Parts: sequence; structure tokens; C-alpha cells
Amino acid sequence: MNIAGKSYRTVWLDGDGAVKIINQLALPHEFEILELRNLAAAVRAIRDMQVRGAGLIGAAAAWGMYLAALEAGEGSFIRDLEAAAAALKATRPTAANLAWAVDRMLAALAAPVGTVSAETALAERRELARREAQAVSDEDAECCRRIGLYGLKLIAEAAERKRGKPVQVLTHCNAGALAFVDYGSALSPVYAAAEQGLKVHVWVDETRPRNQGAALTAWELGQQGIDHDLIADNAGGHLMQHGMVDLVITGADRVTGRGDAANKIGTYLKALAARENGVPFYTAFPSSTFDFSMGDGLAEIPIEERDPDEVRRISGKTASGLIETVQICPDGSPARNWGFDVTPARYITGLITERGICGASEEGILSLYPEHR
Ligand code: MRU
Repeated sequence: MNIAGKSYRTVWLDGDGAVKIINQLALPHEFEILELRNLAAAVRAIRDMQVRGAGLIGAAAAWGMYLAALEAGEGSFIRDLEAAAAALKATRPTAANLAWAVDRMLAALAAPVGTVSAETALAERRELARREAQAVSDEDAECCRRIGLYGLKLIAEAAERKRGKPVQVLTHCNAGALAFVDYGSALSPVYAAAEQGLKVHVWVDETRPRNQGAALTAWELGQQGIDHDLIADNAGGHLMQHGMVDLVITGADRVTGRGDAANKIGTYLKALAARENGVPFYTAFPSSTFDFSMGDGLAEIPIEERDPDEVRRISGKTASGLIETVQICPDGSPARNWGFDVTPARYITGLITERGICGASEEGILSLYPEHR
């Protein structure tokens, strides 16, 4: 991702040995890089949402396991890593990528390292942890790059129909480069299209209560020079009724083997509006977001319920440039705050993955992922 003309990933191991992240709590007002030097810092970063987005919390958790490997004792290595895995998995329940990345790290680290001294074995395991976390990061970025190339075809087809007018894409929350290691899922096709010289414009849902659309999607699109407008969460249906949306592309946090998709709260309503208005609705995600152990997403996907203060309050920059949080409801108003909802597969036109685009159904998914048959 381009930030002020420099290329960045959202998480990386720096030459000084620290894992670095872009602090998403400071965006869009400040660009700040933070260091994670131990497991506790990685757990905090994911729990408090300094890093967020399905792919990125998976990669950050993989780096958390690497940091845990540096801290783990010689005689208690696997036990320490299992405890680290439990702490990381407890941070956020809905995105499948987190548990997937942690389990992958555990599996790699539990493998025997051969007949070497205990000291060498520890050093080898730590190096193995570094390589595996790097592989999780690199694969996440590569999957997202490929999602962009497949999704590009949809935008190119729409561009032909539009005969020179910009293709209008609506997106919800932030499933851009900031939600992954690089490129993003829902926004990757937009970046690929812009790179090909296609005219594309993005409607950015603000995405209450945490405003990932307003704070993050609008910021990253601006950094990449993509034409966009921020809209109130409730505006999408109106735009679709008036032919102002050519396609909806959202990300996903967990997708079941039947194609039901959990994504940021409010996604389901956009899917309903899209169906009512004949607008294609696509869900873009890497295969690490699949949960093949689940079928019925509504019944089975765990939905994170968060602090109601996120609904009662809103933060932003005042006219004098201060970042302030204000209360927007009566004192003591009760509130509830579900972080995600599930869009049933029947409302999804297609799934855009790193292996191609398929129907949102067991059959469609198995055509791309036959090993899960
Ligand atoms: O709560 P967040 O910000 O971690 O939510 C995740 C998301 O950003 C969205 O649901 C996104 O659309 C899918 S994750 C790439």
C-alpha cells in the first residue's frame, strides 16, 4: 500500500528485531507506527484494535506466536506456545483467520526438529517461528493480490457496460489493504482496475459504530488516489434504487462451507438492498477466512458483542484539531453492540477468492476447493 508515496505493509518484522504495525486507532488523523516486542503487546494490539480486519489479525497473531517463541522456555516450549495460542485466540471471536493462523503456527512449531541439543532445538524452533509468521504474511498479501486480479474482471465487464462512465462500487467497513497485510480483499479489485486505467468510484459506508469506513477506507482510498465519496450507512439503499451502484463488494470475516458470510454489522442490510434492486453483491476474501467446519452461518458463526459505549459515543477531530470523544445519547441510555452479521449465501452473487470467483454454495466452493469435499 502506498502511504505518502512510500510502500508499506500493515505488519512486518523490522531489521531491529521488533514487529511493527500501523496503529489503526490513530488513523485517519495521524500515521503512527508501533512496535510489538512481546506476546502481551501483540495480544493487546489485536484486542484493542490497533490492528483489525480478518487477514491482518491473522498475520498479527502469527507474529504474536513468533514473539511468544522468543519468550518461551527451553523445557516448556510447547506448553508456553499453547498458552500463547489460547491468549491470542481469546482476543476476537468472529474472524476465522485468527484461529487459523495461530493453529498453523502451533502445528509448525510442534513438529520435531531432529536430533540436536536442547539449545540448538530452541534456536531452530524460534527461526522456524519467524519463517512461518513471514510465510503467513506473504501468503496473505499474495492471496489479496490475486483476489484483485479476479475481481478486476467484474469491474472491467461493468466498465464495458458503462461506456466510459466510472464504475460505481459500494463497500462496507474496511476490507482494504489496512484489513490485510497488503492490497485488501474487497478493495483489491478496485486497485487493480485503477492500475489498468479503468474509471472507478467507490461509495464508502461510514460503518458505525467504529467508523472503519470513514476513518480507514476513506483514508486508504485517498492515499491510493482512488475517487470516492463517504456516505452515511443508511444511504446505500437509496443509491441502489437510483441506479448509482454497479456492484457491491464487501470483505468477510468467516465464510462457511455453504457460503454464508459473516462481515461487519450492516453488511446483511446492504445485501438485501442489492437483491431488491438487482445489484450484484460480491464477497471477497482469502481462503484463510473459510471455516469448512461450519455450514449454517446464522446458527453457527460466533458474533462478537462489543462495548456498548462504542454505540453511545463517537470520536473525531474538533475544529481546533483536538481528537475528542463525545456522547450522542441521553445519559445512561442502554445500548447493544454486535460487531458482525451474517449474510446468507442466497444473497451473495459470487465469492471472490485467490483461486477465482465461484457461486456462494457448497457446490460452487467445492469447485474451487475440491480438497474439502
Ligand atoms: O472489527 P474489524 O474492523 O476487525 O472488522 C473486520 C472488518 O474490517 C470487516 O468486517 C471487513 O469487511 C472484513 S475483514 C477484511
